[in-house]
Order: sequence, then structure tokens, then C-alpha cells
Amino acid sequence: MKTQKPLRSRAWFDNPANPDMTALYLERYLNYGLTLEELRSGKPIIGIAQTGSDLAPCNRHHIELAKRVREGIREAGGIAMEFPVHPIQETGKRPTAGLDRNLAYMGLVELLYGYPLDGVVLTIGCDKTTPACLMAAATVDIPAICLSVGPMLNGWLKGERIGSGSIIWKAREMMARGELDYEGFIDLVATSAPSVGYCNTMGTASTMNSLAEALGMSLPGSAAIPAPYRERPQVAYQTGRRIVEMVHEDLKPSDILTPEAFHNAIVVNSAIGGSTNAPIHITALARHSGVDLPIKDWETVGHAVPLLVNLQPAGTYLGEDFHQAGGVPAVINQLMEQGLIREGARTVNGRTMGENCKGAEIVLPDVIRPFDQALMTDAGFLVLGGNLFESAIMKTSVISPEFRERYLTNPEDPEAFEGPAVVFDGPEDYHHRIDDPATGITEHSVLFMRGAGPIGYPGAAEVVNMRPPSWLIEKGVLAIACIGDGRQSGTSGSPSILNASPEAAAGGNLALLREGDWIRVDLKTRRVDARVSDEQMAERRAALEAAGGFQYPPSQTPWQELQRATVGPLQTGAVLEPAVKYHRIIDK
Ligand code: FES
Ligand code: MG
Repeated sequence: MKTQKPLRSRAWFDNPANPDMTALYLERYLNYGLTLEELRSGKPIIGIAQTGSDLAPCNRHHIELAKRVREGIREAGGIAMEFPVHPIQETGKRPTAGLDRNLAYMGLVELLYGYPLDGVVLTIGCDKTTPACLMAAATVDIPAICLSVGPMLNGWLKGERIGSGSIIWKAREMMARGELDYEGFIDLVATSAPSVGYCNTMGTASTMNSLAEALGMSLPGSAAIPAPYRERPQVAYQTGRRIVEMVHEDLKPSDILTPEAFHNAIVVNSAIGGSTNAPIHITALARHSGVDLPIKDWETVGHAVPLLVNLQPAGTYLGEDFHQAGGVPAVINQLMEQGLIREGARTVNGRTMGENCKGAEIVLPDVIRPFDQALMTDAGFLVLGGNLFESAIMKTSVISPEFRERYLTNPEDPEAFEGPAVVFDGPEDYHHRIDDPATGITEHSVLFMRGAGPIGYPGAAEVVNMRPPSWLIEKGVLAIACIGDGRQSGTSGSPSILNASPEAAAGGNLALLREGDWIRVDLKTRRVDARVSDEQMAERRAALEAAGGFQYPPSQTPWQELQRATVGPLQTGAVLEPAVKYHRIIDK
């Protein structure tokens, strides 16, 4: 235990040097029943950053769980103050929930900094709620602990597991083939989401909640507990208890979010088959934590790690199975035995990652595979570059045999493929034209989505995983090469090349690409190039600039404009650049 420093909430509630303000602060917090004795007792004031609401149904169960968090806080000698975080719902927010991560982040920074809080419980769940909360806690650097809301129960249809999020990609293929009508489509998708909680697949939500635990920011074993299980409110209670102790120990995000923790997050992300959104959010968190984490680390640290977790979209099972199989500690224990984990990384329970996970057993070895029976090798990302962008990532483990046979056909050059570019300017253009025969798309085309990055489509749209046109789907072509400056849903198993930076709207060379340009993708040399000479590129750039630059839709809201003016590329986390210098602000 560190030497006790005065609680920061005392500056509000017990400051004899400033009786006027102290009295004012105190009286406002009394009017719903707190007593003077409580507020002046010297007990830590613990915030519960509430991300659940009717607008944010993935996290809504936190409204229930917060009651158990409060009981834990109270029992351990703290006082709970629950407050709302700007809601982020992944699938319901227009134009994209990606726009709101930085907004929720900024809002939470102000709350954590500006109110009498000594520590905070971050109620995480739906995709962007986890990074938004963690980024804010890292910036302010007050003791913080994550509580995952947990995944939904498994979805079932006719004895088969149906994963929320992932089913949509299958259902839209079925509808394109005429096997489902509109009502059937809606029913099938609804079946996948049978209870409270976040998506039951290994999409961005399961990924980020697992990584919060791998970073050491959640109690061990807590990430994967399904939302409706009894263990969920039990761990809510333990989380409430623990944050009070963390305040007394002055155990802060800066003690936990170290380079070792980020190393562990990258390794675990590969082993769980984590989302392509993870590099964006984890990079953003690293930057707000003052940790250097170049995008290439995702390849150098993460690519060779095998896939151990057999969850949809990469595998078969769903969230309940992951928990029953042993959850994150069982995965980490396998990785630890191979020396892949930095075991000394500290975690919220005061112990190290190694101490927490050593010996954690796999209960269901088909769901979490022992290391020597991995589902596949090299499950991490490749980081690609070339003459169209500086960096983009690709999850090569999801390349299907069918895709491989169609594109990767040259025995002399087995990791390269070529084809003509078909270029879409933003998601609306794609939706309009994808089934238009005039595009001339064949099974060897390379589809591009540009104008979909943090500036072009404010927040960066999850649209790079484009489906083939209906005439190809009818022929059985289910996956087509896709490249773009946007993101893709973590629930999609498409082998796209995405998060390309810099984006077209920020002056990246993708803006210079033209329909029919010949594209070469070489996974061995990690390059994607258009057969366009430097001279041609320069001519095209001059022509584009003369025409007023790359066009993208105007902002529809004030925040879109502010975010566009300050956001960086996906490669470096799409953070608000002016915010980065503010980390650890309460120590300053
Ligand atoms: Fe919120 Fe999947 S849409 S967790
Ligand atoms: Mg998403």
C-alpha cells in the first residue's frame, strides 16, 4: 500500500480554507438524502460512469448492475455517485457510432476532472464504450476499474448457434440469393440477440471487453461472464468493493496501462480472433496513456500468435461458450506457457497478470484450444503499405479457401494477386451501384471504398467489407477483395484491407485512384500498389487539386465539424490530436 495522499474529493467537501465554496458544494449534494456526516466523513467518493440507457441497449443492463456496484462501494467504505456517459450504440447511431467515441471521451474527461471523484467504475460493453471510458480514465488518471456488462446469451435457430452481428452478413447473402424475404431477413437477425448484453460473437464488443481484462483493467475472469448470469452482478459487487481499495492504494491507470499491458493486449487480440477495430481503439488508448505503440507492432507482436478461441465470426461458438470454457484467463494461461505474455504487468486487483492467470484451465477444449491444437497459425494482422496509403491492416486468418483459390492462384507467387480496381466514393455510392452491371465487377475485381475515413465519413464508417454484386453471389462468389480507408465491423469475417491511412479526404493517394487501375496485392512484401507511375500520380494530384480536392459530404452537426477539424488518422487511433498532450492531468 502506498502512503495515503489526501482524497481529491476533500477539496470540495472539506476545505476549511474556503468555507463558502465548501458549503455550496456540500449543500447541492445533500438534497437527495446524503448526509453531511457522509460527505464529510473522508470516505472516498466513487463515480459509477453509467453507459447504459434506453438509447444504448447493449449496455442497458448496467442500470441493474450499478445497484450491486453501489453495494460493493458502500460496504468497502466508499460513497457512490452514479452519472451518465454520453450514450454510444454501435448499430443505432447515425452516421456512425465511430463519431461518438471521442465525444464520449471528452465528456467523461470533463466529468472525472471537474467533479469530486476519487475513483471511478467504468461500465463498459458495446464497442466504443470501452475505449471511450478507458481513454478518459487514462487522460485524467484517477483510480479506475472496468466492469463489463457481459455478452448476450447465445442465439439459437434450429439447434444452431446464431451470432448477433455476424448473422447479418449471412442473411444479406441469403436475401441477395432470394432465399429470404424482408420479413424473414428481420426475423433471422432478431433471433441472434436473445437477451440483454452486448453482441455474443467475437465482434468489437467482446474483443474490447476481453482486451480491457488483458490490459489489467477488469477483475480477472470477469470479461466473458454473460450479462444475465448470476456471476455478473456478483462481479459487479466485487468491482465496487475493489475500486474503494484501489483509491486507498492510489492504484491508477498509469500504473496499469504500461507498455507491457499493451503488448499483452495485442497478443490476446490475435488469440481470441479479435476485431479489426482493436488496433484503432488500443492505439488511441496508448496515446492517451503516453505509451508509444506504432501500428507495425500489431504485426511484429501479434501476427504470429495462433487463434485459440473458436468463436464466430472466425469460428463456431458464442459468448456463453467462451465463458464456460474458461474465458480470458484460460487464454492468457496458454499464451503464458509459451512465454508470449508479459507476466509482470500489474492489474486492478493489485496482483500481476501472471499471478492472476497462472494455471487457469481450459474447461471446453473445443471452444478455447490448447496452444498446440490452435485453430490456425498467424491469426494476427498484417500491416500493409504501398503507393496508395502508408498503412492498412488485414486479418489474413479469415481468408477463405474459396477466396484463396480465386485470387491467390499463381504458384510462383502464392501470396500475391492482381486485378482491376472498382472504386466507390463512400457508402452511399456503393449501395447505389453495387448491383449495377455497369460497374463491370468480376470475380477478380478489387473493390475500393474511399471517403470512409474519420474525416470523409465523420467517425469512419464500417463499410469496407463490401459484398459482391448479386450476380456473383448467385454464382457462389461470396467474398471479393476489398480495400478502403474506412473500418469494418468486428462481426464481419471478411478479409478486407482496411483502416487505410491517410484517408482520401485527408489527401491520401487513394483519392487519386481511378476505375480500372491495375492493383497488385502482395502479402509477402506487405504491399498494395496501383500500377500508376509517380508521374501519373503527380498529374492526377494536380488535376484533383485544380478541381477543388477530394469531395465528401458536408458536416450535418456541430460535432461532426469539430471532430473533422481535430481528428487524426486511423493508423494513430483517430484521436482528437489536441487532446493527446493532456494525459495524467490530475497530477499536474
Ligand atoms: Fe452493441 Fe454489438 S451492437 S455490442
Ligand atoms: Mg461496429
